[in-house]
Amino acid sequence: MECRRLTEDGAMLAREAIGRIKIRKNGSWPSLESIRAFLSEADSILVVATEDGEPIGFALAYLLDRVDGNRRMCLFYEIEVAEAHRRRGAGRAMIDALQSVCAAEGVAKMWVQTAPSNQAAAALYRSTGAREAGSEGEIVFTYPFEGRRDESTIGEAGCRLGCE
Ligand SMILES: CC(C)(COP(=O)(O)OP(=O)(O)OC[C@H]1O[C@@H](n2cnc3c(N)ncnc32)[C@H](O)[C@@H]1OP(=O)(O)O)[C@@H](O)C(=O)NCCC(=O)NCCS
Repeated sequence: MECRRLTEDGAMLAREAIGRIKIRKNGSWPSLESIRAFLSEADSILVVATEDGEPIGFALAYLLDRVDGNRRMCLFYEIEVAEAHRRRGAGRAMIDALQSVCAAEGVAKMWVQTAPSNQAAAALYRSTGAREAGSEGEIVFTYPFEGRRDESTIGEAGCRLGCE
């Protein structure tokens, strides 16, 4: 298994990873242009895990500036490993790769949210060094923008929280 952050050169692989693992059969795959545009942003991070050259997992994260100009933050938005490849270390390897990017960028903190019922995600985050921060009873609100503009530009899951 290999795992690396993709740049624009990896747009084809990125599209395969997002299409096969995230979107699967329900929905249209992103265009190569939109994938390239995403990968060209220095603050957008897409890590892909492959086995024999085929994508088996991906992780998405965003580097963010702080208003006080001090060290940056990283929103770890989403991670998924194809079902047949779980519990073989791909999730851990992708988080290691994200942590390396954060270290290189001088990031102060990376954070990720998940549903209390998502035991696999919580176990993965704990086992890769994350500490639980949310206080008990904390609620996460999301603003669903679907329907406020052309659906096709938002995408099926575009405004939902990454980790549910
Ligand atoms: C969460 C997820 C990404 C884990 O990926 P993975 O490749 O299976 O994880 P790893 O094999 O790297 O596991 C690393 C460690 O995490 C923990 N872990 C992972 N999956 C677990 C599970 N189902 N139950 C308990 N612990 C688990 C274990 O400590 C594991 O180490 P071990 O196998 O040596 O015991 C995967 O289950 C997945 O894609 N789930 C669906 C999408 C999702 O819920 N994403 C998170 C929210 S966005």
